[in-house]
Amino acid sequence: MNLAILGMGTVGCGVVEVLLMNKSKISGLMGEDVTISHVFVNNIDKERDVDLTDVKLTDDITDLYGADDIDAVIEVMGGMEDTRDILKKFLEKGIHVISANKDMLAKYIDELTEVANENDARLLYEASVAGGIPILHAIEHGLNANEIHKVMGILNGTTNYILTKMTNDGWDYEKALKESQDKGFAEADPTNDVGGFDAQRKIVLLSRLAYDRKVDIDEVPVTGINNVELKDIETAKKEGLILKLVGKSEFDDQGLSVEVAPVFLPSDHQLSSVGYEKNAVYVNGNAVGETMFYGPGAGGKETASAVVSDLINCWRNAGRKQFNLTPQQTASVKPSQSNHK
Ligand code: NDP
Ligand code: HSE
Repeated sequence: MNLAILGMGTVGCGVVEVLLMNKSKISGLMGEDVTISHVFVNNIDKERDVDLTDVKLTDDITDLYGADDIDAVIEVMGGMEDTRDILKKFLEKGIHVISANKDMLAKYIDELTEVANENDARLLYEASVAGGIPILHAIEHGLNANEIHKVMGILNGTTNYILTKMTNDGWDYEKALKESQDKGFAEADPTNDVGGFDAQRKIVLLSRLAYDRKVDIDEVPVTGINNVELKDIETAKKEGLILKLVGKSEFDDQGLSVEVAPVFLPSDHQLSSVGYEKNAVYVNGNAVGETMFYGPGAGGKETASAVVSDLINCWRNAGRKQFNLTPQQTASVKPSQSNHK
């Protein structure tokens, strides 16, 4: 099967690495070998961490539109409306699309899902929430016998890395942010990480799947960690409290409450021990009760684990009638009850 990859940065290189590292297992599961036929980037002259010798490397997306041998597209480049339009073109041709782009998906998932369904294509996006943790698959497939009433978690690796370094090692905010950028956890522009918007997008995608409702991202209140100072963290620590950026949503007959905000948690709270770039997601279902998912929230290979898993799953399910979830109703967001500033 021929694969096109849009973007070859932290996650794109991770995808190439994982495909190579576990080549025979992946081929076995898919029933054929995966060939990376096309890679689309900004700058074709940039040095890459992976070998792209046999790949058609291009900065012109029309090269991919013109190719008639692409079976699936992995989008790991980011971007908003332009990227949505590009992905639509592939879906319209019945080509499966896998995306890690939570910024774009939190806004356009319903629109893209409709196009996918109209064209018998699969749109999978496991890596867009909580990096390597297969939380979307768990909610959509593993917990689908439940009515889910609550989803809560640490959903951003960068801010959790910063807060952990400040709490455990006494680092200042700027130094910790710089290190999370160097490690590839932060977005190219980290404003959305530290401002809480990245976590906001993830709680929207989680809530949509958990409650089978469309959620308008513009209604979701968000507070980031931009104003957190080391002295606040040290004072709280003396009182047995740990600061975490938490995304939380609850759904009942009254509607949906959803919010992202920094919260001081008791040091023995389950989320307090989730350190560095790790993420954790708590889901409460009416049959299963409390469940908790933990793992890497960012990083090249870690995120690629989810991306390649989507590739395997969409290929194995090709030919089966299996629609992407399209919620019919919108959940209106209740005004925030919290006093987090
Ligand atoms: P990087 O900045 O490392 O890489 C982005 C890649 O996309 C680069 O290769 C860049 O090309 C290419 N690109 C960007 N814009 C364009 C464009 N307009 N046209 C063509 N190519 C373009 O990003 P990441 O790999 O970190 O992230 C990629 C996506 O995955 C984002 O949506 C991000 O939110 C998401 N994600 C990232 C995670 C992480 O841990 N980093 C985890 C989960 C999701 P060039 O190299 O030539 O500049
Ligand atoms: N910048 C994101 C984070 C990448 O730090 O969590 C994973 O989505």
